[in-house]
Amino acid sequence: MEVFRKVAEIKEFVRQKKAQGKVIGLVPTMGYFHLGHLALMREAKNSGDTVVVSIYVNPLQFGPQEDLASYPRDEQRDLALAGEIGVDAVFIPADAEMYPNGFSTYVEVEQLTSGLCGQFRPGHFKGVTTVVLKLFNIVTPDRAYFGQKDYQQLVVVRKMAEDLNLDVEIVGLPTVREPDGLALSSRNVYLNPEERKAAPLLQQSLLKAKEEIVNGERSPEKIRDLIARILQSEPLIRTEYIEVREARHLEPLEYLEGRIVIALAARVGKARLIDNILVEV
Ligand code: PAF
Repeated sequence: MEVFRKVAEIKEFVRQKKAQGKVIGLVPTMGYFHLGHLALMREAKNSGDTVVVSIYVNPLQFGPQEDLASYPRDEQRDLALAGEIGVDAVFIPADAEMYPNGFSTYVEVEQLTSGLCGQFRPGHFKGVTTVVLKLFNIVTPDRAYFGQKDYQQLVVVRKMAEDLNLDVEIVGLPTVREPDGLALSSRNVYLNPEERKAAPLLQQSLLKAKEEIVNGERSPEKIRDLIARILQSEPLIRTEYIEVREARHLEPLEYLEGRIVIALAARVGKARLIDNILVEV
């Protein structure tokens, strides 16, 4: 496995692989790998791609009060895990490599980014799409792999790829969970034991909501209320939002039909956790 820190080096690696007729699969990450990241890498590997993983804690997608400074990092462990999976190259740029002095160009997907997480994290998705487009331009992947836990991010990246005619297939893969249902996230390390015990209620509330829909409930309002009541029963959970949306374009719904995503965000101690569930009606 090769490790590159410079844009010119990873570009040269990709150029050589493409000359050999290889398909390039990119797994963009912020590091501190968990089984969710590893599942993305395995899928890329199993698809026969030359797998490039990027590790970059992108300052542009963190708000001023957010956890950029404390975001967990462990490069040596990440490299060992990627190596075990058979990743071909890891790209670990420094800030100056990604955003040299005078950097002033951004890409923003409108509308889709105004609700859900976008409402609580102003500028976040602009930071995500800017860095993802830069990574796409640097690595020129044929496929790029994202987890469905960040569901809005996945929809936003797909929209950017469509709107800007990018030649990359966006592959979304299911959320990987702890045995008790908590969605894997690098931010789960912020949870103390009490908070960790409370956190699986997020997924339990989504499963209960799905059950109600399967049993015939068609009111988004009632589904939101049900989840809110369940989460209110746990004092360690402070709900940020609960949204019931059409799954492809995140349009609000008055009546539940088609493919639906129920997405939520909550503060549990220092951690801001997100989760979602897809339901077919
Ligand atoms: O999901 C993430 O880890 C990040 O938002 C991403 C896609 C790597 C961009 O920084």
